[in-house]
Amino acid sequence: MIPVIMAGGSGTRLWPLSRTAFPKQFLSLGYDETMLQQTVSRLEGLNTTDPIIITNENHRFLVAEQLRQMGQNASILLEPVGRNTAPAIALAAFQALGDSKTNQGEAPILLILAADHVIKDTAAFQAAVNKLEPAVRDGKFGTLGIVPTEPATGYGYIKAGAETSGLFTVEQFVEKPDAETAQSYLDAQCYYWNSGMFMIRADRYLEELKRHQPAMYAACEAAMASTEQDYDFVRIDKEAFIACPDDSIDYALMEPLTADPANSQVVVAPLDAGWSDVGSWSALWDIADKCEDGNSVLHAGKGEGETILKDTRNSLISTSDRLVSTLGVDDLVIVDTKDALLVAHRDKVQDVKKIVAQIKEQG
Ligand code: GDD
Ligand code: MG
Repeated sequence: MIPVIMAGGSGTRLWPLSRTAFPKQFLSLGYDETMLQQTVSRLEGLNTTDPIIITNENHRFLVAEQLRQMGQNASILLEPVGRNTAPAIALAAFQALGDSKTNQGEAPILLILAADHVIKDTAAFQAAVNKLEPAVRDGKFGTLGIVPTEPATGYGYIKAGAETSGLFTVEQFVEKPDAETAQSYLDAQCYYWNSGMFMIRADRYLEELKRHQPAMYAACEAAMASTEQDYDFVRIDKEAFIACPDDSIDYALMEPLTADPANSQVVVAPLDAGWSDVGSWSALWDIADKCEDGNSVLHAGKGEGETILKDTRNSLISTSDRLVSTLGVDDLVIVDTKDALLVAHRDKVQDVKKIVAQIKEQG
């Protein structure tokens, strides 16, 4: 099994800690290891090879340095531009198949992971992964499903059908439904959230991509036709990849592959492992360790900043260099960095992206 780690996100939702030059997957968010490093460490004990990591060219040294710190070898595929996850996985599939031809092995299985998720229970994660493997070897597309707790509109929804040895046939996959639809899925009690992690045989991925997204398949094939190896970095054909359509695996493949429930190519293994995609500051507060007042303090980066919190409850405070003190406030998110300060209500942090958009607009 080859881990494929998607690390190309631009991570605007944790601004101002996460920046274009330093997105979420490269931050440690209060843990010892960065999100990328945790993704790699979580694989220890599984039957996996060195990972393929796909990232933007601009982040190559961040990736290389973070892997070096943990003594981890990898192939690092560099994208000149982001074209979302469906093309990113296609590049990895071509790379894995090319390598397996030289090794004359059977078609490799890809364990496709996001580089920016928290999973608290590694053993439960690994058990779910192992459960998927036989069906994936037989050609199915494997997903890991999370029991939903709210009608979130930022996730894909997976409808579970018949069960065979702990795996369910997926009868429908709907990416990011509107609020009303999400609520109806929650009420139906047979839907999971898509965790954004997949297990797929490399040849099957490319076969279905060719069928459902021929232009994307062709662009990725062309981009991988002339690669250049530069130490651990694999540079692809820039011009060919720029011409590639932009789409996520969820819309480009998972939805079409479940369009006919009677002939679904997708299975889901339930995952109950304390998973979070840390999609906002409030999501980070949800999973963080808290003091008895419900406050969570994050010492980000190299900063030595301290906090003095008086009469303050259920807040998340991230400090870098300065002392941050609060008095008589509840339910806040305060993120202090060298050049920007965010003060927001915990219920409003979804809108941080509006601030980021305005900053971009002002250049
Ligand atoms: N290499 C590369 N290139 N990686 C990318 C790119 C890209 O162009 N775009 C996104 N990624 C990486 C991100 O860094 C992240 O690790 C992962 O792919 C998923 O991308 P997101 O942009 O975070 O997707 P999402 O959160 O909106 O939705 C996905 O994840 C949800 C769970 O967190 C979908 O799969 C949903 O269905 C799912 O519920
Ligand atoms: Mg995400």
